[in-house]
Amino acid sequence: MKRYTTAPLKFIGQKRNWRSKFERINFSGSVVVDVFGGSGLISHAIKASSPRARVIWNDFDNYASRLSKIVATEALRADLYEALKPTKPIQDANITDEQKAIIYAVTAWHTGYDEYTAQSWFNHQLLCLRKGDASIPRYYRLRSTPYPECSDYLKGVEREQMDFREIISKYKGLPNVVFICDPPYIFTVQSTYSKKGMDGSEHDFHSSFGLKDTIEMINMIGDKPAYIFASEKSEIHVLFDLLGVSSYSDITKSINIGTGNPSMLVEKLYYINGAKRSPHIQHSLFDNPERSAAR
Ligand SMILES: C[S@@+](CC[C@H](N)C(=O)[O-])C[C@H]1O[C@@H](n2cnc3c(N)ncnc32)[C@H](O)[C@@H]1O
Repeated sequence: MKRYTTAPLKFIGQKRNWRSKFERINFSGSVVVDVFGGSGLISHAIKASSPRARVIWNDFDNYASRLSKIVATEALRADLYEALKPTKPIQDANITDEQKAIIYAVTAWHTGYDEYTAQSWFNHQLLCLRKGDASIPRYYRLRSTPYPECSDYLKGVEREQMDFREIISKYKGLPNVVFICDPPYIFTVQSTYSKKGMDGSEHDFHSSFGLKDTIEMINMIGDKPAYIFASEKSEIHVLFDLLGVSSYSDITKSINIGTGNPSMLVEKLYYINGAKRSPHIQHSLFDNPERSAAR
């Protein structure tokens, strides 16, 4: 199985910096439920490295629908890239009238591509461009390398599409279940995630995934083993103590998120209830020299 180091199509919040950690854990014989599955990168990494694990990806955002458009998206990228090349586009420079006309013409006859990806090439202003908006959009970055065809990306992984409460309830009765929980971080900006629910209705997950949901998630996991991501600011360990989580360990990683201020995001990965329930899961992840604290 081909190993993907990043999700095939852009997904903000994908855990590419943690992927290799999960590849080092032996999940054979476990039912791994990727509760906040996002781009599926963690599900992919686990299935690729532990093929005998049953892996369930909760595709809350319907990323599968985006992946199904990757061939059409690549066709658009390739045509745009070739058509724009003679105009020598520069990242973050203003788009010229000539370039606007090319983008307008090329996108007009393509269909079925992933709208989010196409928008991201032009700083999410493609719509203004199409409408002939007077504002000058900025050229962002049209990658020169093709998008992978990726039919093998989630091969062997089962897909669900549920709210986290439903999926935890559905699988928590299995004796060998392990939950991977990478929710929108509390006390941080979450506005980059989908605002559409599974029924197509609008939700604001920025305000709707909060402390109450986090408490509910921890309580629902109960004494099952789980890997839980959190930002350093989330202080989730306080909740573990308050909610009686009997054992947990954690590692910390500083992630460079680019040019913002601050540009370093400190993320934590906790492993809870491990020793009690899943002796077959190697603790290698937490035995490495990175800052590790066992309680
Ligand atoms: C940090 S992202 C997960 C990224 C993922 N681990 C990856 O590597 O791509 C958090 C995800 O939780 C989803 N989410 C938000 N509210 C949810 C809910 N109530 N139930 C399930 N998933 C939810 C978001 O839409 C987003 O996809």
